[in-house]
Amino acid sequence: MRAWVQNDKETRGGWAEIDEVVPGDGEALIRVTHSAINYKDGLALTGTSPIFRSFPMVPGIDVAGVVEHDPSGRMAPGTDVVITGHGMGETRWGGYAEKLAVPADWLIAIPSSMSNEHAAAIGTAGLTAALCLDALEDHGVRPDGGPMVITGASGGVGGYAVALAATAGFDVKAVSGRSSEKDYLMGLGASEVVDRAPFEEKPRPLGKEQWASAIDVAGGEILANVISGMQYGGAVAACGLAQSMNLPTSVAPFILRAVALLGVDSVYAPPEKRARAWGRFTPEVVKRFDPMLVREKFDAVDGLAQDLLDQKIRGRVVLSW
Ligand SMILES: NC(=O)c1ccc[n+]([C@@H]2O[C@H](COP(=O)([O-])OP(=O)(O)OC[C@H]3O[C@@H](n4cnc5c(N)ncnc54)[C@H](OP(=O)(O)O)[C@@H]3O)[C@@H](O)[C@H]2O)c1
Repeated sequence: MRAWVQNDKETRGGWAEIDEVVPGDGEALIRVTHSAINYKDGLALTGTSPIFRSFPMVPGIDVAGVVEHDPSGRMAPGTDVVITGHGMGETRWGGYAEKLAVPADWLIAIPSSMSNEHAAAIGTAGLTAALCLDALEDHGVRPDGGPMVITGASGGVGGYAVALAATAGFDVKAVSGRSSEKDYLMGLGASEVVDRAPFEEKPRPLGKEQWASAIDVAGGEILANVISGMQYGGAVAACGLAQSMNLPTSVAPFILRAVALLGVDSVYAPPEKRARAWGRFTPEVVKRFDPMLVREKFDAVDGLAQDLLDQKIRGRVVLSW
């Protein structure tokens, strides 16, 4: 089968013809139809960060495909499924391959109203955006409480967050470094596009109270500035580090304004949380995402991975053969 494989830490990987995967005990065999390029895939493919934890490794943290065999009997052969996270493309082989073997209980059936292409495009990015919204709503955040600010809006997670939050009735302020994407972001549902530059300045412990809630994919100064601009009692869902892993803030917003910082992880999210988050992707919502899709072939992943890290890609790259 064809797969993008990296054999060791030192040598960069690439496409190769390798032996077919053989499912282990309790594993299902999937014929991969689609994958996507996430920020983490970009880091892995370019070797920018040590994402691969064992070798040989096949990247691709998102997969949509067709069940060839499910030993649990839960999914009939021919069922369209999506699988995201669970360490795929990090500790175990991911989706940049013609076939994939994964524990059968990781499979999520794709609803008949959704194509495999859309399921892969939603993938980790959409799931994470939905988990962020769930976390905020569980904290008590409601549309009538005030505006929601969303960073990295031109990217994958950010784009889904803008569209999902707007669909849920929130007044969305989309932060972006790309003023050229204003029409695109307003089309996804933002009421305003806010320039990223002020968010990259040195954060003050407390700024003007502007937002009731936030979804942040950037970390670093950007997240610190978001936190200092929260209204009293506001809540921030933090899920990314596109700017930095650091967080140069103080306790002031937390102890003086009762701001809540909610961490969100999609990789090891339990099945109940995944099911609830995927439930946000109704056919009407999925239609709204179409402008986000950048349709590409698997062969193009290397160049696209660098483009993604260089912020040259808008929305979401979905891959097919
Ligand atoms: N917690 C989880 O489970 C989880 C899941 C998925 C992703 N993530 C994380 O979320 C982040 C976004 O992932 P993604 O797949 O959406 O990536 P992406 O498609 O590349 O989008 C990232 C966006 O962030 C902004 N950005 C990029 N580099 C930046 C920089 N140096 N400084 C400031 N802003 C920058 C850009 O938006 P603008 O041009 O619009 O400003 C960019 O489009 C990544 O850190 C990723 O690791 C976490």
